[in-house]
Amino acid sequence: MILTAAMKNDLEIYERAAHAWWDGSDRTFRSLQRVKAFHLAELERLFGSELHGASVVDLGCGGGLLSVPLAERGASVIGLDRSPRSVRAARDAAGRAGVSKRCRFGVADLCGSPLEANAFDIALLSDVLEHVSDPGGALREAARLLRLGGRLYLNTFNRTRRARWLAVALAEGLGYVPRGTHDWRLFVRPEELRALAAAVGLRCDEVLGEAPRICATLRAGALEMRRGASTAVSYTAVFTKVEVPA
Ligand SMILES: C[S@@+](CC[C@H](N)C(=O)[O-])C[C@H]1O[C@@H](n2cnc3c(N)ncnc32)[C@H](O)[C@@H]1O
Repeated sequence: MILTAAMKNDLEIYERAAHAWWDGSDRTFRSLQRVKAFHLAELERLFGSELHGASVVDLGCGGGLLSVPLAERGASVIGLDRSPRSVRAARDAAGRAGVSKRCRFGVADLCGSPLEANAFDIALLSDVLEHVSDPGGALREAARLLRLGGRLYLNTFNRTRRARWLAVALAEGLGYVPRGTHDWRLFVRPEELRALAAAVGLRCDEVLGEAPRICATLRAGALEMRRGASTAVSYTAVFTKVEVPA
C-alpha cells in the first residue's frame, strides 16, 4: 500500500519521547513495557534454552525492550530502527544492563537493512508491521536475514472494525497512545500475512490471538495483555524459513 497524505501513522513519538522507553514517565511507553514483558515470556516459552547463543535480529527494535532482555538471556542481538533517538535509548539500555558486546543497534529502514543474508536464527517484527506501508517488503527482509530453519516472531494488529475501535479510537481517545499514531488501513489480516509470508519462503507455524485485559489495563493505567482464541484485535504469528527465495 502506498501511504497518502491523508493517512496517519505518525511515528514522531518514537523520536520525540525516546527518553521514556525505559522509564515510567510516559503512558505509551509504560504500556509498551508491559506488552513486551508479555511477549518476552512468550519468546521464552517458544524458544526456551535455544535463546542462549541464538543470533537475533530485532527489526523496528525501538528502545530495545526485547533486544536487551534477550541479550541478557545469552542471545547475540542486532536491533535496527528508523528512529535515531530510539536507537540511542536502546544502546544506553544495553550499556546499563552490561550487554553492549552482545547487543548492537543501528539506524535503518527495516525493509532494506545493510545486514548479511541467511545469518540469523531468530527475527523479530514485534509491534512494527502496523506502521509499515509495505508489509510484504518487511517479510521479505526478515526472510532474507534468516538462515534456513530460522524462525520469525511477529506481533501486530488485525484489520478489523474491532481493532480500529479498540486499538485506535479507544486507545487514542483514552490517551494510551498519541492521536494519529496508527492508521488502521495499514493493519494486516492473518490470512494476508500467511500469503505474504509464503511468497518469501516462510511457513506459518502458529497464529495466536491476544487481547487487552480491560479491567487490569484501567487499574494499571497501562496496557495489560492476555492470550485468547480471538485474533480480532491483535495477534502473534510464528514462522519458519523453509526455502530460500529466488
Ligand atoms: C511500537 S514500536 C515497537 C518497538 C519494538 N519492536 C518493541 O516491540 O518494543 C514501533 C517501532 O517501529 C519503528 N519503525 C516503524 N517503521 C519502521 C521502519 N520502516 N523501519 C525501521 N523501524 C521502523 C518505530 O521507530 C518504532 O520504534
